Amino acid sequence: MTNEAGRRRWNNAAEVAGWAKREPFTNRVVPFVIEAANPQPGDRVLDIGPGGGNLTFAFAERIGAQGHATGLDISTGMTAWATERARSGGVGNVTFLTGDAQVLACPGAPFDLVVSQFGVMFFDDRLAAFTNLRRHLRPGGRLAFACWQEGARNTWHPGRILARFAPPAPALAPGVSPTGPFALGDAADTSEMLAAAGFERIVCARHTLIERVDEEAVRDRDFVPSMRLPPDREAEAEAAIEAHFARFRQPNGLSRFELNFQVFTANNPG
Ligand SMILES: C[S@@+](CC[C@H](N)C(=O)[O-])C[C@H]1O[C@@H](n2cnc3c(N)ncnc32)[C@H](O)[C@@H]1O
Repeated sequence: MTNEAGRRRWNNAAEVAGWAKREPFTNRVVPFVIEAANPQPGDRVLDIGPGGGNLTFAFAERIGAQGHATGLDISTGMTAWATERARSGGVGNVTFLTGDAQVLACPGAPFDLVVSQFGVMFFDDRLAAFTNLRRHLRPGGRLAFACWQEGARNTWHPGRILARFAPPAPALAPGVSPTGPFALGDAADTSEMLAAAGFERIVCARHTLIERVDEEAVRDRDFVPSMRLPPDREAEAEAAIEAHFARFRQPNGLSRFELNFQVFTANNPG
């Protein structure tokens, strides 16, 4: 089965419950994806990895009652959460489905727009995944997604701290893509992959947000346990992460992070 590790991670109840704390940050990226996608009233939109659905709901508002937005997420917990939000908010023009966007033929195709906000960095065969996503677009339809820039430009992320404690990751088997927050960070490499997947008019716009937020907006409390470190190193790793996040704290209790992300747009040939 594809994306087995991702399926486990994103179906973990703690990951689902913790995601609401991240939305104060991801909400700030929504306008950048909307502007890049330029949705029109009546559009049919597919949102990949919608999580709690903040981007899907923003598109639903822009496309109006004649349009429809579908969120496709590998996590049943995220799908249930977003579906409940749609129900309680009385949003009628959205549907949330569970499935792996790398391989699923999602009902509702062809779409005018395929969009995502940090939901497309977890494919173990990214060329197959983006080829599958392109096939969901009508001729001339548009892809627009936000992902992180390179890890070196996102020093708030504790991954490099933890690398000191974890054994080196085994080499990837031929044809298996790296996954994780920075997997699409190399803009030239990602553009090349999108071209190989059949997209044209590929553009990458790089953005920086200076955020003053509660550190929970970027801190994953499950990070150390999820790394499966040798048990005798876990306490030391937690202390190193605590020291790492202390560097960003300000006297008012909030933390200041420089968040570097990028928004790709590309077209399915018309
Ligand atoms: C970093 S979260 C982003 C959530 C939301 N878009 C936001 O910005 O708040 C990544 C989301 O992608 C989903 N995801 C990961 N791999 C996926 C896959 N192969 N197919 C569909 N969804 C996937 C996860 O379950 C999770 O909801």
